[in-house]
Amino acid sequence: MSGPIRVALWATGAVGKTILRGIIDRPDLELVGLYVYSDKKVGRDAGDIARRETTGVVATRDRDELLATKPHVILHAPRVQVPYETHDDDLLTFLRAGINVITTSGQHFPRAHGSAREQMFLEACVQGNSTLFGVGVSPGIIGERLALGLTGVSMTLNQITIEEVLDTRAMPDPDFAFTVMGMGSDPARLDGSGPLPSLYAALYLETIAFMCERMGVTYDEVRPDHRILAASRDIDVAAGHIPAGTVGSTEWRWHAMVDGKPFLTLAIIWTMEPDREEYAGRDHWTIHLHGKPEMVVRVNLIEPDEPGSRTTAVQYVTAGPALRAISFVVDAPPGIFEPPVFAPFRMPA
Ligand SMILES: NC(=O)c1ccc[n+]([C@@H]2O[C@H](COP(=O)([O-])OP(=O)(O)OC[C@H]3O[C@@H](n4cnc5c(N)ncnc54)[C@H](OP(=O)(O)O)[C@@H]3O)[C@@H](O)[C@H]2O)c1
Repeated sequence: MSGPIRVALWATGAVGKTILRGIIDRPDLELVGLYVYSDKKVGRDAGDIARRETTGVVATRDRDELLATKPHVILHAPRVQVPYETHDDDLLTFLRAGINVITTSGQHFPRAHGSAREQMFLEACVQGNSTLFGVGVSPGIIGERLALGLTGVSMTLNQITIEEVLDTRAMPDPDFAFTVMGMGSDPARLDGSGPLPSLYAALYLETIAFMCERMGVTYDEVRPDHRILAASRDIDVAAGHIPAGTVGSTEWRWHAMVDGKPFLTLAIIWTMEPDREEYAGRDHWTIHLHGKPEMVVRVNLIEPDEPGSRTTAVQYVTAGPALRAISFVVDAPPGIFEPPVFAPFRMPA
């Protein structure tokens, strides 16, 4: 492609704004459109929202207006919603209109949910000659690229565990922290199969299914094993107040079961009390391969040393994979983009 890639951005939350700065700062990308949900942001220049120079691109809440800017690719970063399929109509509309999509809001491996969902996206891609890619850090990098890549050393492999432990006190958006993460709610209402456990089951199943498929592993079931912890005291965080006794930490955990034993365990632990005994000093991600060789890899984020900037390491590590993927997705043949994995462990037939 000659000239810069024409990029539009969909939503300017914590991750979206980080992506926006990444687009504005890169000479190989041209920002052509910006969609926002907030009435207060409609009509504002993208540079103003991103704390950058004026760009001449003005935020809209009109989907057709955004489509009319004819981007090569939309970077899509709205809040995930209950139900998980909430954003389908937008995604299908972009793809059918011939616009490639990179989203941080799910769609990492639609095949995880069966062939009907995969076909739905595939048909839209074929119709529009476009490509869909869902990516972030987790889902996105930790399981799909780091852990799977690591299994390339395994002579035997009995079990993989991946644990994420993130301090969520700096999450700025009350709607995200309280509604989507469930913090500050009644612990009894969050455990089990309600809307939030179902949302996260759908999202993280994509990591589990992708990893297992690449390793030739057929699981009998994916068994939930969640733990919801009440805050031990009143906590004030960026998003607001969490009273003692309401949800202060969530441990979403699933086991992909093979022959009655967990083969792959994925634990996503978010806490507003990182000083609790069970979380203090824990690494952000721990990948443990049990087999020959047995290996542990720990991944930790280091907060940026940027006076005057509010961007956190979690925002960088989510925006980065979406930005890095742009040229690959634009150049890919139509369809659902699946990141290549070289020679991972294969379960003996
Ligand atoms: N895979 C990963 O590793 C990973 C990591 C972190 C986050 N994520 C995902 O990335 C997405 C963005 O995260 P974030 O931290 O930026 O979230 P956020 O700060 O809560 O912002 C999301 C933005 O969504 C928009 N929004 C408002 N109301 C909405 C609605 N009813 N439906 C949909 N969107 C609405 C708003 O855009 P405007 O402000 O422009 O109006 C809001 O700022 C989320 O879906 C999150 O789950 C993925």
